[in-house]
Amino acid sequence: MCGIIGYLGKNEKKEILLDGLQELEYRGYDSAGIAIIENKQLKNFKAVGRLKNLREKTKDYESVGFGVSIGHTRWATHGKPTELNAHPHMGAYSFVVHNGIIENYQELKKELQTDGVKFLSQTDTETIVHLFEKNHNINNNPWQSFQDTIAKLDGAYATLLITEADEETIYFAKNGSPMLIGFNESDVYFASSDTPIIGKATEVYYLEDGEFGYAKDGKVFLFDANGEKTFSKQALATDKAMAQKDGYRFFMEKEIYEQSQVMNDTMMGRVLEDKIDFEELDKNLFDNISNIKICACGTSYHSALTASYLFERIAKIPCQVEIASEFRYKEPLLREDTLFITISQSGETADTLEALKMAKRAGLRSLSICNVDNSSIVRESDAAVLTRAGIEKGVASTKAFATQTMVLWMLAIYVAQAKKTIDSELLKEELNAMRQTPKSLLINDSIHPKMTRLSKRYLHGHGFFFIGRDLFFPLALEGALKLKEISYLHAEGYPSGEMKHGPIALADAELFTVALMPKSLHYEKIKSNVEELCARDATVLAISPEPFDLADDYVKTTYDSHPMLEFFEMMVVTQLLALEISVRLGNDVDMPRNLAKSVTVE
Ligand code: AGP
Repeated sequence: MCGIIGYLGKNEKKEILLDGLQELEYRGYDSAGIAIIENKQLKNFKAVGRLKNLREKTKDYESVGFGVSIGHTRWATHGKPTELNAHPHMGAYSFVVHNGIIENYQELKKELQTDGVKFLSQTDTETIVHLFEKNHNINNNPWQSFQDTIAKLDGAYATLLITEADEETIYFAKNGSPMLIGFNESDVYFASSDTPIIGKATEVYYLEDGEFGYAKDGKVFLFDANGEKTFSKQALATDKAMAQKDGYRFFMEKEIYEQSQVMNDTMMGRVLEDKIDFEELDKNLFDNISNIKICACGTSYHSALTASYLFERIAKIPCQVEIASEFRYKEPLLREDTLFITISQSGETADTLEALKMAKRAGLRSLSICNVDNSSIVRESDAAVLTRAGIEKGVASTKAFATQTMVLWMLAIYVAQAKKTIDSELLKEELNAMRQTPKSLLINDSIHPKMTRLSKRYLHGHGFFFIGRDLFFPLALEGALKLKEISYLHAEGYPSGEMKHGPIALADAELFTVALMPKSLHYEKIKSNVEELCARDATVLAISPEPFDLADDYVKTTYDSHPMLEFFEMMVVTQLLALEISVRLGNDVDMPRNLAKSVTVE
């Protein structure tokens, strides 16, 4: 997720852009840039790293008079975080900023290179500005050229373009990535969310997918596939703190709701019509690899455990999972035909980083699954796949876990394609299920209020068991960790088949058991495990598509034949349960006691 800002008007532009980007830095900050056209002067500045580096670069610059301007803070999806890859991207006389992924950029880039266009960056975005100028060099009509450009883009984009060919206009288009327009008298603002323009604009219009147009002379002309359209503005929120959370009470809550959208970002350009592709991976990454070892901590360890079931079941490749802090000191036996995968949201976890270095010293090939490009773990790895969850501000991980799990599911299929262990029928089923995932992550109007009501019954007791089988055992571990982290109540994730080997001794009315009971995987087995607990008076919260009468509480989920869709839906239920219990206990949901977002110490 990147951050976009635009401004058309007579106020000083640099500060408007930089202040706006500051508010968007949570969306991504591996590089940033601004471009301004005024009095026929074209100015642009870019800097790698945090926004303060761009402020430093522009400290002696000040814009005066009427002009158009755009800015961008980048969350790398294509191409490393470098100045060349930073937006705005420039053609001969135009600039563009973009959030999203142009899925057909390689095809467009090839066409443009055949026409002699020289690309400076590795990004998909640069195709937009060169395509615009190719069109404009033919028809000499900026508006028509912009329309022709947008018409050729596939994928997700929120984009702003300014050009010396029409120096009083900002062109815009939105499809799949967020963007809004702010108004204040004759000034016009553009932004990825409303925080950057609070205190500047007074009214706002939230663009819909497929809408595009231009801003000129303080007015906005809006179009969609059916032609020009009218639109109504609404009053802009004035509380910046609330706006950063987009109206949610906590960043964690916002991030739970964001999971459906970011999952689209995670899959974009990877889940293709008939296969999985990772253009960032060398095709020979898995050559001569006969087993996989995954190493991680905490929640990332749970996505790793989930992946082990998927790699063995789909890719037919042995997969072991290690807790990084244990792995480092166990004198592990390592073989060079092992692919060593590390998973880390922050990319800075000390134990995981050190484990990676150990594996590399032993000659293993390494791959990291990470949410922060250019982080230590990414830089240390031979290859990396970014989860594209956007910055996760809640210390308790939610969307990072969901996107890690999706990347690992895609990887399992990618390996199966490479090793030809998946037939076309199963591949089609897996791809269809993946495409349904964003829907399984949507939170319908009834489930959240239900979890809020339910949570009042789980504020005491001598602890919780979260139980599940197979893929749902790692999910049970994750559900227990989420609850522990933000409620400070004791909770354990356990394989449901193991309860009778000791833990069931704890069963009584004060023992709360959250049972993950998917219909698509070993339902009868898990059901009998839960019945054993009910028979001993344990208090059971059953999460299942199938009503379970013995439970004290029951949360109905959607039956779907693919276990991963049940997995993601039940994941949301356990996240909301932890959130609402924590809220009732009055805890700091986003910054729980004793924790840190990135554990960079042993
Ligand atoms: C997850 O909710 C916790 N904050 C914690 O377990 C975290 O997953 C762990 O510290 C690993 O962090 P990483 O993914 O950044 O490596």
